[in-house]
Amino acid sequence: MNQFGGNWSENKIEILVEYASAYLTIMKKYADKYNWQLLYFDGFAGSGHIKGDNEKESPIVGAATRILAIDEPRSFDIYYFVEKEKEFADMLHKATVENFPNKKIFIANTDCNEKIESLSKFLMTKKGKVFKSLAYIDPYGMQLNWKSLETLEKHSVDVWILVPTGMGVNRLLKKDGNISDAWLSRLENFLGMTKENILPYFYQEKIVYTLFGEETKISKENNAIEKSAQLYEDRLKSLFKFVSKPYILKNKMNSVMFHFFMASNNRQAVKIANDITKKYNNGTI
Ligand SMILES: C[S@@+](CC[C@H](N)C(=O)[O-])C[C@H]1O[C@@H](n2cnc3c(N)ncnc32)[C@H](O)[C@@H]1O
Repeated sequence: MNQFGGNWSENKIEILVEYASAYLTIMKKYADKYNWQLLYFDGFAGSGHIKGDNEKESPIVGAATRILAIDEPRSFDIYYFVEKEKEFADMLHKATVENFPNKKIFIANTDCNEKIESLSKFLMTKKGKVFKSLAYIDPYGMQLNWKSLETLEKHSVDVWILVPTGMGVNRLLKKDGNISDAWLSRLENFLGMTKENILPYFYQEKIVYTLFGEETKISKENNAIEKSAQLYEDRLKSLFKFVSKPYILKNKMNSVMFHFFMASNNRQAVKIANDITKKYNNGTI
């Protein structure tokens, strides 16, 4: 079972479910009239349940089951779940395929980036059929490659994406700027940018005068988490016409861990997402 927990885990799923219900309500009339196929894609689908921090708490029902349970006003036509861990993928199979025998469900025990590429190819080859997709990208860390998002954008897809600003990007940006090649390449793949463009965004070079003459000192921006959220939002805007305000996930110490965005080429879709995130941010954003 996935372990993560926390109130924000539940909020994230509630936001997704609320949006999916609104999406299906709007799409119903078009899908029925024009014979569109509605596809749900979950790239980091988990085991079906999420265990809380506290052993006494009962597990939270995961997003996959919650989305499958939506029948009114309509359900999706196809559900595609990707989970890399074999044990979790097997548990997910039980929680989904066995509990929803009448729904068209596919589970892929592989890497999300690979599956996004094959999904993209699948959508391209289905000429004559119109697919509209809702995608949910919910990793713990920086596993999603920017290249994968680029392939998704070509299709009619709304994407909810959890961005590990505090938990991922900020942790790799070491205070002294001394970042290993492996971490730099992770940042590059994640942001779809070169290190030459990433580093000046987060670090300043200052000349300091010491006993021995001038020295160049590198200092990291104080608000690196907020800057990484802004950067990712800007990156999303380079692919999608509209990006929602994020739901900000904070831990018990009030530190920001993730930003949860929705990106779409549909203005109305992002307006709906903004109304939902505002509610869960307690009206602050
Ligand atoms: C935050 S959990 C998902 C929770 C799930 N969305 C839910 O609501 O129950 C992230 C999951 O992604 C899986 N994972 C990690 N790296 C992956 C990858 N590259 N491709 C697919 N799944 C991956 C992990 O095993 C983990 O189960």
